[in-house]
Amino acid sequence: MHDINKIWEELKNKINTCNKCGLCKTRHNAVPGEGNLNTKVVLIGEGPGRDEDMTGRPFIGEAGQLLTKILNAAKIDRNELFITNVIKCRTDEFNRDPMQEEMYACRDFLEAQLLIIRPSIIITAGNVPTKLLLRTNNGITSLHGKFSDWRGIKLFPIFHPSYLLHSPDKSNNVGSPRYLMWQDIKLLKQKIDEVNSQS
Ligand code: URA
Repeated sequence: MHDINKIWEELKNKINTCNKCGLCKTRHNAVPGEGNLNTKVVLIGEGPGRDEDMTGRPFIGEAGQLLTKILNAAKIDRNELFITNVIKCRTDEFNRDPMQEEMYACRDFLEAQLLIIRPSIIITAGNVPTKLLLRTNNGITSLHGKFSDWRGIKLFPIFHPSYLLHSPDKSNNVGSPRYLMWQDIKLLKQKIDEVNSQS
């Protein structure tokens, strides 16, 4: 039997020492991902921001804290999940979107993570992971809150929490980003409960 922890430690080591693209020159830390390796739910973000780059941990800055708050409100414990990103190193001080070659350099790591964990649900946060996995040019505005299939796994796009932070509309009015996010998270919670009750 394979020891999942050992396989993950080896993969983590490869990510932490990776120099397949230019981002290795400017990173303080790679951010491989963290969480429950025996989970049914993996959340994939875009890439590390400043706080993540400084610590090596995903989603711990302002956007990450908002994400944790929203998950908590729906009684989803982030420690239940495995959380990672499309790219494992920060792009630049503006957190620009990753370039094609950076995503492709990192893609084997993401695929390996999904192979090791074999989740039942993949949550993609924002445009970058959603477009990459679904191979689509459609944006998150049309794709969020709907389940699709990725290699037999349920894929569920949600808005990126930083979209909520940067949107001028901070209300919970029907149709606002926060309202839509909350509808999506409630649906997600139902599906998580469903897949957890199947094991
Ligand atoms: N935004 C992301 O997409 N990922 C992180 O880890 C942090 C912020």
